[in-house]
Amino acid sequence: MTYGHFDDRRREYVITRPDTPLPWINYLGCEAYFGIISNTAGGYSFYRDARLRRLTRYRYNNVPPDVGGRYLYVRDDETGDFWSPTWQPTRHDPEDYTCRHGMGYTVIGSARKGVRADICYFVPLGADLEIWQLTVSNKGRRPRRLSLFSSIEFCLWDAQDDATNFQRNFSTGQVEVERGVIYHKTEYRERRNHVAFFACSEKPAGTDTQREAFLGPYRGWDKPLAVERGRSFNSVAHGWAPIGSHHVRLALAPGETRTVTYILGYSENPRDAKFDPPGSQTIDKRGIRRVLDRYRDAAAVAKAFEELRSSWEGLLDVYRVRTPVRHVDRMVNIWNPYQCMATFNMSRSASMFESGIGRGLGFRDSTQDLLGFVHMVPARARERILDLAATQLATGGAYHQYQPLTKRGNNDIGSNFNDDPLWLIVGVAAYIRETGDWSLLDEAVPYDNAPGSETPLYEHCTRSIRYTLDRLGPHGLPLIGRADWNDCLNLNCFSETPGESFQTTTNREGRVAESVFIAALFVLAARELSAIASRRGREAESGEYLQHADRMEQVVREHGWDGEWFLRAYDASGGRVGSASCGEGKIFIESQGFCVLAGIGTQDGRARKALDAVRKHLATPHGIMLQQPAFSRYYVELGEISSYPPGYKENAGIFCHNNPWVMIAETVLGNGDAALDYYLRINPSARERLARLHRCEPYVYAQMIAGKDAPTHGEAKNSWLTGTAAWNYYAITQWILGIRPTFEGLQVAPVVPARWKEFSVRRVFRGVTYDIDVVRVGKGNSVRLTVDGRPVDGTVLGVPPAGATALRVRAEIS
Ligand code: GLC
Ligand code: GLC
Repeated sequence: MTYGHFDDRRREYVITRPDTPLPWINYLGCEAYFGIISNTAGGYSFYRDARLRRLTRYRYNNVPPDVGGRYLYVRDDETGDFWSPTWQPTRHDPEDYTCRHGMGYTVIGSARKGVRADICYFVPLGADLEIWQLTVSNKGRRPRRLSLFSSIEFCLWDAQDDATNFQRNFSTGQVEVERGVIYHKTEYRERRNHVAFFACSEKPAGTDTQREAFLGPYRGWDKPLAVERGRSFNSVAHGWAPIGSHHVRLALAPGETRTVTYILGYSENPRDAKFDPPGSQTIDKRGIRRVLDRYRDAAAVAKAFEELRSSWEGLLDVYRVRTPVRHVDRMVNIWNPYQCMATFNMSRSASMFESGIGRGLGFRDSTQDLLGFVHMVPARARERILDLAATQLATGGAYHQYQPLTKRGNNDIGSNFNDDPLWLIVGVAAYIRETGDWSLLDEAVPYDNAPGSETPLYEHCTRSIRYTLDRLGPHGLPLIGRADWNDCLNLNCFSETPGESFQTTTNREGRVAESVFIAALFVLAARELSAIASRRGREAESGEYLQHADRMEQVVREHGWDGEWFLRAYDASGGRVGSASCGEGKIFIESQGFCVLAGIGTQDGRARKALDAVRKHLATPHGIMLQQPAFSRYYVELGEISSYPPGYKENAGIFCHNNPWVMIAETVLGNGDAALDYYLRINPSARERLARLHRCEPYVYAQMIAGKDAPTHGEAKNSWLTGTAAWNYYAITQWILGIRPTFEGLQVAPVVPARWKEFSVRRVFRGVTYDIDVVRVGKGNSVRLTVDGRPVDGTVLGVPPAGATALRVRAEIS
């Protein structure tokens, strides 16, 4: 059973019934003004920071679910009957309901008794506002008299405070209403210089700004009194809960269609020019009026929408593929890069599972996310790298997170996640491979944002390596610190107190617990830095990094191999984690995938053995589990991982982020069939037919699918904001399809299933469009290339002839 279908031509997912198992969302905005919107118009908006500049209120984990949104009510003024075209909040039996989630916009609509209404929601490029464009048609034979009521509920800016500090907040709310425009100005009288505004292209017959008046006593959003009676109260909020609602009357002749535009936006005034006239308490609205004049015009709105569409077309044009599998094409051409952009914009802040108040931008998360978007927005990736590096500490360590508004490291979470700094090198290398812009390494970047501490970015990378080398444990493996990639493997924390954070509680000395995963990441990062150093003419340093990598590989061979697979770690008393000798948690995915991906064990047969063990012990039809057997009880010496019931999250869930490591590992060993098989097990489009079980959106990856120990095996959770997006994109585009940026040029080295006869890729790389046709002439993975008919040595397409903007590449694999 499904709830909709893909419309690949329009790059949309079309939902055809509103009662999806969970709210299926989309994102609006891609620069500064953002929103999340569900298939029934639930969600909220914010400016830059989902916690500190929240425009509208949303109640997570509430009943009924997903209430608080961008709602319109359509009322038949002859009968008094009213309904919401987005289904919520009135939830009438839907006639012809559809929701089209597209690239940066969502269109939701339905019909009732001869009236059809559709609302297109989007954020224009370069604007700090959202548009709701309503199209309403009279499909019947008689004239109709209708009323439209809009509604939003303002959040008092700080979403955390808004949900907790009622003793103050019920007294602070303030609005202004002028010529039908509603201005939300809570705290503008004191330290805030920003307001929200909500306007309509039609002259309203009335407005409401006090929630209690609009809804009526003890009513919900499904039956507002103002809508029921067909007239606004013209209420003005003083404290309590400011809302915005316009009442617009429309007369529609048979067959007539009308368009009404609503504009919800954010605006800042200079601190000393907030009021008009100066000295008053009235908002200076001149800037806002100019913006409104522009977007009240339907033609301007149409143009803004076209600009948004073509901007996405440009982004998605960078890598386009045609293969024998439609789930590959659809995810690679549309949804996977789209999700990667969402992770770039949001990191882990705002989704249906991330409340927007919890986490800043993670250091390791953001550096890995880069793998998925650097080809689309290289300039912004560059800026992100520099921001992240500026939070690095002089020791080479890194804050685990930073706050997007201040760009400062987050002291509450602190540092000592010992994998963090190494990811910087992975991100930097990805950026240079994509762009060839070596000047990044020369940028002067401070440590901990301290002025005067700047060094070239290159030195930040060298300090990342040093950080690991300064923190080796008894076996010569890297010390784990608070945790490595697996935030929940807390080998130094021993927490006995409920509610305490496993990541931030006081750690033990931590001189014993070691991570094989960090060792593998170190091998990868040190080899990257060696390659970078050598291309910068620093041959001696390059040699040193190579030696460090080789030595670490040796240590992994001696102390990180368990006999049939790679060990995961040593705990604080030197005991093995992820070993056949353990009672539970005998084998972990991270060290198998990452060691092989980093090239460890590829020469001595261990890599193959490790991946065979993954297949035997961890693979399920729904993806590869994090470890087995699941922890059936709490192990204080292992930490949060054993706090989850078996099969969920890091306790033997299918943690989709690390599945691509195994896919890439399989390609490293030349096994395209296995790689694509794993890829398709978690590919959201391929799982669409399991919608009832999977429950999350079929167009984006979820962080987690319940593992086989869970009663809900196959059920997904935590969709959208996950490193899964970038890693799957990276695995399929660069390793399976094998179109891979290198320092020297674009490499063509596919490792695809034996039955694939051909596929083609169009890749825009460093200003040149490569049209690549890959044809299988034999069973293996050897590649023979010709460019515009001329044979090329090896698999890397070097610098193209001067002036070339398009090249035709033929790759024969045999
Ligand atoms: C979450 C975190 C990420 C971590 C992963 C595994 O996705 O955001 O940083 O690596 O969980 O614990
Ligand atoms: C929790 C989650 C984990 C995440 C971490 C981030 O531990 O289980 O996935 O990485 O929080 O702080």
